[in-house]
Amino acid sequence: MKILFVASECAPFVKTGGLADVIGAVPKALAQSGIQARVMLPAYPALKALVAGAAEVWHAEKLMGGPARLLACTSEGIDLLLLDAPHLYDREGSIYLGPDGKDWTDNAERFAALSCVAAAVGIGALKKWKPDLVHMHDWQAGLVPAYMRQKSGTPPPTVMTIHNIAFQGLFPPAMMKKLGLEKRHYSRDGAEFWGHLGFLKAGLAMADRITTVSPTYARELMLPEFGMGLEGLMRYRRDDLLGILNGIDTDVWDPATDPHIAKPFSARAMGGKKASKKALLKRFGLSPGKGPLFCVISRLTTQKGLDLLLEAVPYLVARGARLALLGSGDKELETGFVAAAHAHPGTVGVVTGYDEPLSHLMQAGSDAILIPSRFEPCGLTQLYGLRYGTLPVVARTGGLADTVIDANEAALTAGVATGVQFAPVTTAALEDAIARTCDLFAQPKVWTGMMRRAMKHPVGWDSAAQEYMALYRSLADPAT
Ligand code: ADP
Ligand code: GLC
Repeated sequence: MKILFVASECAPFVKTGGLADVIGAVPKALAQSGIQARVMLPAYPALKALVAGAAEVWHAEKLMGGPARLLACTSEGIDLLLLDAPHLYDREGSIYLGPDGKDWTDNAERFAALSCVAAAVGIGALKKWKPDLVHMHDWQAGLVPAYMRQKSGTPPPTVMTIHNIAFQGLFPPAMMKKLGLEKRHYSRDGAEFWGHLGFLKAGLAMADRITTVSPTYARELMLPEFGMGLEGLMRYRRDDLLGILNGIDTDVWDPATDPHIAKPFSARAMGGKKASKKALLKRFGLSPGKGPLFCVISRLTTQKGLDLLLEAVPYLVARGARLALLGSGDKELETGFVAAAHAHPGTVGVVTGYDEPLSHLMQAGSDAILIPSRFEPCGLTQLYGLRYGTLPVVARTGGLADTVIDANEAALTAGVATGVQFAPVTTAALEDAIARTCDLFAQPKVWTGMMRRAMKHPVGWDSAAQEYMALYRSLADPAT
């Protein structure tokens, strides 16, 4: 079976969050089951080096105001289709934001172009390769079904995956014409969303099936607190909505082989973890102490609930714990955490920015990872935490609820606990979770047992790959 993935980021080439990790890992997991997934991405500057050696498989003289070509190549074990359109993608800086920190003003054109070319490939524009199914990820790929319906030929079935419903790709309806979208798509069961042109809305209304990245988030999406205005559509399409839990790339995230950590370790031989803790304390200027070392590796946004953690810092410090935070995003939060580090030298350490190798060292060297998200479609950092014996302390929402087993009395007695969950998402509940974690840490036998169990928790892609495969089969090959 041949699947076309359409997305705006893919690790290890270009990454701003978990979406990239998923797009980089799923095709490899599917390949083991005989599915060929090709990933279509914009040819951003980070991918230009690959473009040079790639074969041109399609071109257009004019795509949203300039020439474009599609190039095929394989890199890091991933089959790529790169959309090279310099007027849209050839610019330095963030893939979504301009130098002023605001969305690029032509993001509608940039990602409509991606969807438009993906639609052409879906219908059969490439001589030697026609996908049996198109799998779209997030709003950037949402217009594929609309464009396919405008072309002659039989469109293949489509799956739309929601990685985060907070990002919807909303633009003025006047853009329809510029993007070459027929007026008929601007309807309640099409691209219209409360007077806007909604890229994600279009995909959710028109795709054959919808998936999201955890079973709990699939249920939450039907509620007004989480659906961001799309809860009605989610309820309407509930029979076509499926939650498939993300995994992680267990080759890249393996404490036994990770080149970014101080010393290898595993569930059977955990001793090496100490060396990374030492290196981490040094890197963040923290002093050793009795309490646990908590870490945070995150985008700093409202979603992640880190404003609550900032309020809880004095409590965390009073409990004898330490905190190492790596993050970037919201300037107020950045400033707040830097100030907290100054106020608590040796106890709170902060690195602002994005640093992939450091994130590995932190997963290896910390005792626990804090994730107080207000909503979390899946979350990957708690999965890395489990794999590295860094126990997740998480808000009970979305994928966090589905992947961490709370250390309550029953779970401890049954010997199944792997972390701490808390609800509601408030500072008081977070402080209570920090207190429980400190108490558990003070019982070395209990803590080590949880670590060992966490490290054995299955976090790979095997089960999700089977679920995606069954979904693809039911659509592309309904007879089986
Ligand atoms: P989201 O996609 O909502 O940001 P996820 O938990 O799914 O959340 O994925 C976040 C990914 O980005 C993880 O791989 C995490 O390690 C990484 N990450 C987040 N912030 C940073 C940072 N400042 N430096 C390095 N990696 C980061
Ligand atoms: C989004 C979500 C995150 C999820 C990731 C990958 O960025 O915020 O929870 O893990 O997508 O699916």
